[in-house]
Amino acid sequence: MTILLLGSGGREHAFAWKMIQSPLCDTLFVAPGNAGTAEIATNVNLNILDFEAIKTFSLDEKVTMVVVGPEDPLVHGIYDFFKNDDDLKHIPVIGPSKKGAQLEGSKEFAKEFLIKHNIPTAAYDSFTAETVEKGCEFLETLQPPYVLKADGLAAGKGVLIIHDLAEAKTELRNMLVHAKFGAASSKVVIEEFLDGIELSCFVLTDGKNYKILPTAKDYKRIGEGDTGLNTGGMGAVSPVPYVDAVLMEKIETRIVKPTIEGFQKDGIEYKGFVFIGLINVNNEPIVIEYNVRMGDPETEVVVPRMKTDLVELFQAVANEKLDEITLEIDPRSATTVMVVSGGYPEDFMKGMEISGLDKVIDSIVFHAGTRMNNGAVVSNGGRVLAVTSYGDDFQEAIKKSYQNIDKLHFDKMYFRKDIGFDLLS
Ligand code: AMP
Ligand code: GLY
Repeated sequence: MTILLLGSGGREHAFAWKMIQSPLCDTLFVAPGNAGTAEIATNVNLNILDFEAIKTFSLDEKVTMVVVGPEDPLVHGIYDFFKNDDDLKHIPVIGPSKKGAQLEGSKEFAKEFLIKHNIPTAAYDSFTAETVEKGCEFLETLQPPYVLKADGLAAGKGVLIIHDLAEAKTELRNMLVHAKFGAASSKVVIEEFLDGIELSCFVLTDGKNYKILPTAKDYKRIGEGDTGLNTGGMGAVSPVPYVDAVLMEKIETRIVKPTIEGFQKDGIEYKGFVFIGLINVNNEPIVIEYNVRMGDPETEVVVPRMKTDLVELFQAVANEKLDEITLEIDPRSATTVMVVSGGYPEDFMKGMEISGLDKVIDSIVFHAGTRMNNGAVVSNGGRVLAVTSYGDDFQEAIKKSYQNIDKLHFDKMYFRKDIGFDLLS
């Protein structure tokens, strides 16, 4: 097969690393890719939102499958673009239809879906600039802290958790009336705060059948002890040690099954990943969000634990035959630590030369934000490298990641030294 993978982060490097191990994969293109994917596949300089350019490339290179990493092309309807084009409809796209991608593209759509299909989620209401005063009244009926969510895509920054009622009202006005998150906050979901431990459940579905992938937990805050600003994710661990069979069974019967059945009842075409964000409140899993793609850096620990051929899985997704495949999982733990550019998630520099990559032993370095510059690998984003290791438990795995990070260097590099700190007890 000739596969085109869209994206340029650590998630895509991990997908590429796994897909090229498949005997079914003859040629792998990554658009736009990074220095890591360039080593193992062919990078293509394509804008992933320019569907016409993707069409031309796919026809010229006789692409036989498209795998979509990030949410943006999905929310913009790349699945439907291929399906509705006579020249492209024979090429399967791994990802949901535009309607399915609304589960991530609109918080309100996701909440309506959850309520309609009786899937446990926090109580909520949604408001616009016209109903901002009603929103303030609704806040008065809730207990602090207050959870305000911009309806649309806001690059992971659209959720505010505020302890003070007056401040919550001010922020609600900022979002609705002063477009704090641009068009994304022209509608705001106000939600009941859930007090518990967060975890993520990853599902691959062909729209009828599904496979639950290994659990993972990421560390979103920039600072140690989960302090400071939110980032895309500073590290991850798989499996999550406190998720036992009883909790998993609840997640499957109360959340995963009704989600997939909901797709069928609502006529939502969905052939891709569902990333379900959960909070475990007294052993009751409650959904806080859907994403329509894999997590990053969760992919860098989930995919390395999958023994089953990923291309075979994608083929089964395309052919709606996922029930015919057994998913084999590596029993070892995997951890990843994200090495970032100092200043991230605020202002940071790019273009710093990275050294020591050739000295890494017994870890896999997935490139998150890098490019080649005159034969050298240089940083090209806030999140730069994800260093993944295996171990019999996560402590053993994390030790290896840190030992290898010690060999890496670029100017102003930073990483959290406490990934997994909350899992020790
Ligand atoms: P989201 O973008 O929906 O994942 O929200 C970002 C973060 O806000 C989550 O990772 C949670 O830590 C937190 N969060 C979202 N919704 C709630 C809620 N209802 N109760 C408590 N925390 C929440
Ligand atoms: N690591 C969280 C995400 O990919 O959204």
